[in-house]
Amino acid sequence: MESRSIRLAVIPGDGIGTEVVAEGLKVLEAVGQKVESTTYDLGAKRYHATGETLPDAVLDELRGYDAILLGAVGDPSVPPGVLERDLLLRLRFELDHYVNLRPVKLFPGVATPLGEARPEDIDMVVVREGTEGPYTGAGGVMRRGTPQEIATQESFNTAFGVERVIRYAFDKARSRPRKKLTLVHKTNVLTYAGDLWSRTLQRVAADYPDVTTDYCHVDAASMFFVNQPERFDVIVTDNLFGDILTDIGAAIAGGIGLAASGNVNPDRTAPSMFEPVHGSAPDIAGQGKADPTATILSVAMLLDHLGLTEAAAKVEQAVADDLLERGGNWTARSTREIGDDITARVAG
Ligand code: NAI
Ligand code: MG
Repeated sequence: MESRSIRLAVIPGDGIGTEVVAEGLKVLEAVGQKVESTTYDLGAKRYHATGETLPDAVLDELRGYDAILLGAVGDPSVPPGVLERDLLLRLRFELDHYVNLRPVKLFPGVATPLGEARPEDIDMVVVREGTEGPYTGAGGVMRRGTPQEIATQESFNTAFGVERVIRYAFDKARSRPRKKLTLVHKTNVLTYAGDLWSRTLQRVAADYPDVTTDYCHVDAASMFFVNQPERFDVIVTDNLFGDILTDIGAAIAGGIGLAASGNVNPDRTAPSMFEPVHGSAPDIAGQGKADPTATILSVAMLLDHLGLTEAAAKVEQAVADDLLERGGNWTARSTREIGDDITARVAG
């Protein structure tokens, strides 16, 4: 793979999305990997100009790439839900990104609100299901706007969907030194879905005798993220629980400016998409204040997914060195300066 170039689709999106993606691409070029990238102007601007979110023709084109790098989409001028549902979630569903991979890792030198925690205490990977659960858009409303309004929002959990994400999480756990997998759910209250998740975990566990398994209710897990993060190695969980839990994860591991993610199609029937966990941050957009580190770490995940493990490790090491040197103070440099410094480390 080293010799052939990566065919990359880039969706910078809105607000700081465009600023951080520019730095991610700089780092990607510096790593010495040939990249042929094509930029797609999806997001709030496109929506206002044409009313389009994700035209079918664009979606079909995107299927032809090796990977997608996304900044962030969203703007206060767009009605809530439009870009989330019709662009972001549609990409995840259509490209079958059934694994939403979110590492929660405290790098040395990074300040955490958990005063005492050391890097070895916060080093986990959350495997969030990405195509089912309460995010499929199933449900409905009756008598809207009246005192008799009824709103339902259904959670979909298929035997197939639950098993494939659990198998992925077992493989991930097996590849890490601790080999520990924790299922996070709410099996005591969400009994039908919870039963499917826990039975599937137990059944699949038979194929992974070297992996230790564990279970934690999502409310308790939220507490343990804060007071005992060292409990966790790999977590597998439902789409909604994973969404919420990984924001806590971002907070304990140095903030949203460092949190990277991958929307992964492990079967490689469509390109996977890598993006910072944060949004378009309209409050700081255009000011050069955004930390591009989350995007640069997402680039490392992208390289790793494409089998370019050495290049991925190089980028991650450059970020680790930069984080150690900045000593918790990233606001001292602009978006571009941080990008330039990490690029220089990767190139050097
Ligand atoms: P946000 O993540 O954009 O911002 C939350 C806070 O974190 C803001 O104070 C922002 O300034 C700060 N922040 C975010 N990224 C940062 C960075 N790289 N460096 C420094 N500070 C950073 O979330 P918010 O405000 O809830 O959403 C803003 C817009 O982004 C909305 O339209 C929302 O729908 C969209 N959004 C898009 C996502 C995506 O494209 N995947 C994910 C989350 C939100
Ligand atoms: Mg979220």
